[in-house]
Order: sequence, then structure tokens, then C-alpha cells
Amino acid sequence: MPNSLKYIVGNWKMNGSKAALAELLPPLADCVHNSGSDRIKMVLCPPALYVADAAKLLGQKSPIALGGQDCHAESSGAFTGDVSPVMLADMGCSYVILGHSERRQYHGETESVIRKKIIAAQKAGLIPIFCIGETLAQRESGHTLDVLSRQLNDCAAEKGIDPEKLIVAYEPVWAIGTGRNATATDITSAHGHIRSQLQSIFGPQGAQTPILYGGSVKADNAKDIMAQRGVDGVLVGGASLKAQEFAAIYLAAGA
Ligand code: PGA
Repeated sequence: MPNSLKYIVGNWKMNGSKAALAELLPPLADCVHNSGSDRIKMVLCPPALYVADAAKLLGQKSPIALGGQDCHAESSGAFTGDVSPVMLADMGCSYVILGHSERRQYHGETESVIRKKIIAAQKAGLIPIFCIGETLAQRESGHTLDVLSRQLNDCAAEKGIDPEKLIVAYEPVWAIGTGRNATATDITSAHGHIRSQLQSIFGPQGAQTPILYGGSVKADNAKDIMAQRGVDGVLVGGASLKAQEFAAIYLAAGA
């Protein structure tokens, strides 16, 4: 997975409908197709329930990839309401977001749970998009880099995770859905720190893992954010629900 690729990932969260798929997917597919770029990967992560319809609408040859928003650490079993990584792969996903701050906050996900999910997702052939980031309180008390180190080390330091089939997303929790962005200095410092941690955990292979930024990315700030050193793409929530806006973010990556 060469990190000269840029990733534009849309996280629909618990939003969308069949009608939204029909409205959003065709213009996004046109945008990617017309750009002719093979250096920028668009990934859409609709709710799991809509993955099959999205895969059908996009068709097999689509340049847009699909991802889940979470998965269980087991491939099947008595886990009512859960979705396994094998099922996501079976329905056409190639990626899965894991460890998103909303999963940590509302579902009590810990590093040890997230670690198991990352391993299971890779085993199922998915590329995990592993989210890390500090809360406002952690940032204000000057602990941002320590938090990032801890999250990375607790999830990835023991053997079992392939850094070449992994994407890390730096998402400061205070920037998600708030309209607030990290400054250029915050971003380069966090991304530089994540890169050095990945290299100390994985050795030279840790230089290849793409690192995305997420948190209130919009069409009008995407270009500046992606111009920062060490930013290999963006993870977009709210703005991925508007075709024009998300297409503009894709084009801002230099398509
Ligand atoms: P946002 O969400 O772009 O709406 O801030 C980002 C995310 O949660 O991945």
C-alpha cells in the first residue's frame, strides 16, 4: 500500500437512506471517473445496512471503494446486533473504520477491544482505518502526544498487526462535528509524532502506513489540510453527506 496514494474517506455515521445512496453515489462516481486520477482513493463508509445496495449501485468496476464503520472481533457467532469483518468483506467492503471516538465514547471501546478488531479485520482481508485522537481536556492539559503514543502502543505494539495493511486516522475529538480545526502546526506535530511512533513500533514498515486527518474537514479547508506535511488524506464525516462538497474535497487532493 504505497503512501504516495491519498485517501478521501467518507464516514456517513448513522445517516443516509436508499434515496440518499441513489442521490450521492452517481455524481461521486462521475467525479472520480472524470478526474482520471489513480493517485487518490475515494472510500465511502455508509451504515452497514446500506453496504450491499451501495455495492450494487457502484458496480464491480467502480473506482470508489466501500468500508464499514465498525466490526466485531469474531467472524461469526452469538453476538446479537453485531457485524463481522468477514460479512463486510463478503458484501463488498475493502476497508473498515475502527476505534472511532464515537465508538469509544458511546460503546465503551477500549484499546484491547480495538486491537482485536484490527487483527480480525486484517485477517478478513479488510484494511482497518484506525482512529486515534485526544479529547479537549487532554489537549488543554498538554497531553496530546502522550495520548496518541498510548493509543498506538496499546493497540499495535504487540505482534499481530500488519502495518502495510493499515491506515491511521488522527482525529482530535474536539474537532469532530464542531466546525473547529486543528491548526497547521497541531496537524504536522501530531502526524510527525504518529509517524515516529509507527516506525518505532513496526520498524521501516511503519514508514508506509498512511496517516489521515479528520475533524470538520470541508471543501473550503481540505486543500490546506492536505497540503500539510505528513497528511496522506482525510476522514470526513458531515461533509461526506453532500455530493458536491465531498467531490470538491476529492478534487482538493489534487485529482
Ligand atoms: P466530521 O466527522 O467531519 O463531521 O467532523 C469526522 C469523523 O468523525 O470521522
